[in-house]
Amino acid sequence: MEHHHEKGQWGSSFGFLMAAIGSAVGLGNLWGFPYKMGMNGGFAFLLLYLILVVFVGYVICLGELSLGRHFGKGVVGAYESLSKKYAFIGWFGWISPLLIIGFYCMLGGYCLKYAFANLGDFFGAGFGVGGQDSAAFFQSFYTDQLSSSVYTILFVLLTVLIVRGGVSSGIERFTKVAMPALFVSLVIVIIRSVTLPGAGAGLEFIFKPNWEVFQGPGFINVLAAAGGQMFFSLSLGMGITVTYGSYMKKDANLERSALIIPFADTVIAIMASLAIMPAVFATGQEPTQGPGLLFITLQSVFSAMGKFGPIFGFIFYMLVFIAAITSSIALLEAICSTVMDKRAEKGKPMNRKAVVNLIGLIVCLEGVFVALDGLGENGFPHIFGLSTWLDTFDLISEGILMPLGACYMAIILPTELVDKEVTLNNNKFRTQKFFDFCIKFCAPLLMVLVLLGQIDSFFGLKIFS
Ligand code: TRP
Repeated sequence: MEHHHEKGQWGSSFGFLMAAIGSAVGLGNLWGFPYKMGMNGGFAFLLLYLILVVFVGYVICLGELSLGRHFGKGVVGAYESLSKKYAFIGWFGWISPLLIIGFYCMLGGYCLKYAFANLGDFFGAGFGVGGQDSAAFFQSFYTDQLSSSVYTILFVLLTVLIVRGGVSSGIERFTKVAMPALFVSLVIVIIRSVTLPGAGAGLEFIFKPNWEVFQGPGFINVLAAAGGQMFFSLSLGMGITVTYGSYMKKDANLERSALIIPFADTVIAIMASLAIMPAVFATGQEPTQGPGLLFITLQSVFSAMGKFGPIFGFIFYMLVFIAAITSSIALLEAICSTVMDKRAEKGKPMNRKAVVNLIGLIVCLEGVFVALDGLGENGFPHIFGLSTWLDTFDLISEGILMPLGACYMAIILPTELVDKEVTLNNNKFRTQKFFDFCIKFCAPLLMVLVLLGQIDSFFGLKIFS
């Protein structure tokens, strides 16, 4: 039963928080949040997002941390310990990171490429963007199967190296340094961005109330976008919060952690918008380009900034890289943790390094497959009427398994278990009534809406119009 200590434990509560915030803060914050906000009307999206974080994000986060720490196991083991018949929820939470991690590592690799390219521009070294149109530069990179595969593999290797080190001497040691570095770099980029002439329009877009997008069927679509984004960004419904919770010491304060993690994640998402929107508007562009925001629109901002533009570009893409790798570490750990549990159940040694190597290899293959697809432009066959394999993996995990798993979890999680875990060590459970209400009513209702909205928008069914 107590075998989880063999898998590892956090050395300090600061270390745990950095790792957990590192898991939450990722491409979802620095890329997904600003571009979805751009497509969904700015302030209106922000407001719905904040409401969702408070009523749903916080409670699911607390539920998952409690579940993990209570049973001391990864996501499959935790649900199995609750009851054999709930094992399937655990498997949902195990498959999701497995589907996400491949394309996630590919995108992380893109960030490395862009950091190098900006460095190349600064030194005039010939491996930069070199005055090319940024859309053309991006396309020539992602359709280049060799170089996008190489960057993907490089990113997976770095992730594997850190996770092999274990919970406190690998993951915690890295994130304790990386997260503060990320924060400082983000502040530097924000200062540059908001002091560009014409930056005000970007700030207005984020903070000035404007409900135009809610017209027609807009509301439900914005809600679904914000809900899906919140789950992805907080890493909920994907096993990781259960797994990281299982490495917490019994005297750590769960309620406080469940407040800090979503709060920090939201702050970073808003900071990312502050770094991005003013710069985009200042260079006379629109943020409504969707996924192109990070690799096309922003690169053109850095290219247009003059001599030191590439330096800011380098800092920016390095910070996105850091955010991505602290998340891919968590994704890999969530997958491996369950494999180690299963080995322990069979009486085998856990053998962290071998497990991480093997799963790392699978992740490499998956990532390279998505990279070879070249965002759908290299002539691969696709399924479900989607145009890229990235979208396919994303739809199955983020669009279906995750809200479904989270919805089940909200319904079946015994609130007494949470109560018991939170109040260990005589901690008070200050938000108990709020928690009980939200987990029973707000969370399941919202999950159903997110599920419908995601399926609707992915397949263009127009249920809500
Ligand atoms: N939250 C991460 C981000 O914002 C991505 C993510 C989703 C994730 N699910 C996860 C990270 C599970 C680790 C584990 O980009």
